[in-house]
Amino acid sequence: LYRSRLDFAWHGYVRRDPMALLHLRPGRDDPYAVYRGMPPFGPTRLGNWVTTSHAICDAVLRDRRFGVRSADLTAAPAMADEFDMSFLDKDPPDHTRLRRLAQPSFSPKQIAGYRPRVERTVDELLDRVEVGETFDLVSAYAAPLPIRVITDLLGVPDADAERFAAYGTVIASALDGIHSLSHAARLKAANRDLRALFEDLFALRRREPADDVVSRLVAAEGHRIQPHELVPMCNLLLVAGFETTVNLVGNAVNALLDHPAQWEALCADPAGLAPAAVEETLRYDPPVQRTARCAREDLELAGHLVRRGQYVITLIGAANRDPRAFPDPDTFDIHRAPTADHLAFSSGIHYCVGQPLARMEGEIALRRLAERLPDLRRAGPLRRRVSGIVRGPIHLPVRAGARR
Ligand code: HEM
Repeated sequence: LYRSRLDFAWHGYVRRDPMALLHLRPGRDDPYAVYRGMPPFGPTRLGNWVTTSHAICDAVLRDRRFGVRSADLTAAPAMADEFDMSFLDKDPPDHTRLRRLAQPSFSPKQIAGYRPRVERTVDELLDRVEVGETFDLVSAYAAPLPIRVITDLLGVPDADAERFAAYGTVIASALDGIHSLSHAARLKAANRDLRALFEDLFALRRREPADDVVSRLVAAEGHRIQPHELVPMCNLLLVAGFETTVNLVGNAVNALLDHPAQWEALCADPAGLAPAAVEETLRYDPPVQRTARCAREDLELAGHLVRRGQYVITLIGAANRDPRAFPDPDTFDIHRAPTADHLAFSSGIHYCVGQPLARMEGEIALRRLAERLPDLRRAGPLRRRVSGIVRGPIHLPVRAGARR
């Protein structure tokens, strides 16, 4: 997996390659223009493959001849332990066992019961916004919502939530690869501090179990999950829980402000159109732009021989704009009739565990924003996060209009 991430990092510095642009400013601002210039399937410079095709991405992600790890990969134990992202980075049977343990906590039924708490959190955040005030949609709204929700679901005490989130943000930066020795040192320190926080939480929930994810995990300790697997599992749920949803809300508001007629339509029918606005954002500007799979055997794909050990980089952001799957793909249209499933949550056995939660948070966040601040306007330039994988604004200044 790290090799496939490195592949892209290296490309950032190889000028003649179209993918280099993805790491430079123009590519970050508009990766879709870069994707359009790429073939549906082709080789990368470091000996892997990359695809922009919806059909090929979907096929690779569902194909059991691919895994997330190379069959030959024997990661140094220290490295594996340090940056273990639990079942996101594992193949069956470990993937199946750990995923089965986490999934019930995120089932649609479980998440539906959580709706009133998400609505309350959204309203508390909006209560702080003054009419006529300029505020940063990301730091005031899109970021605190998923942080509060995932720390609450895990069972983190309120007083510790900010520290969990701060360390989680550092660990999330490893998703793009490890860029330097100082980055590695920061990761190591954050990992150590987050581990200590989680160990305290495990001890608390062993003594005083509650109705939360960590209590359910420690109850399974020793049989369905081994003690050393607890921290990586919690790291994964924490980081996946907030680093992506913040960008769903940020990308949605950004697209809606770019398309005032659609914002107006949403404001005219917030409850009816918020779910569609979430789905169209996930298609049009997905928070996770790509993932990768490794061939576990030699195989033929799109007329090419993919050798065992080679990665196929599946460009989710490109697949979601593939005209063979979505007519007029570069148009943001919340009234779009679905013609194919977008791949924002991936596909196959790693299909996002948290998607019912992400969809609910996104829907409530957009609905309440449209209901309460229909005169929302852009109030300054957007700043994007510097990442080739996770896409979204880090700063989105807006002005709040009349409150209802
Ligand atoms: C997996 C996207 C929100 C937990 C994934 C994958 C994607 C994704 C693309 C699969 C990666 C791959 O195939 O290699 C998103 C997006 C979200 C979101 C776009 C928000 C809009 C969440 C939330 C949680 C979550 C709120 C809650 C904990 C997970 C977990 C996995 C995962 C645990 C690993 C699944 C597996 O490997 O079997 N997500 N996610 N995600 N996501 Fe999400």
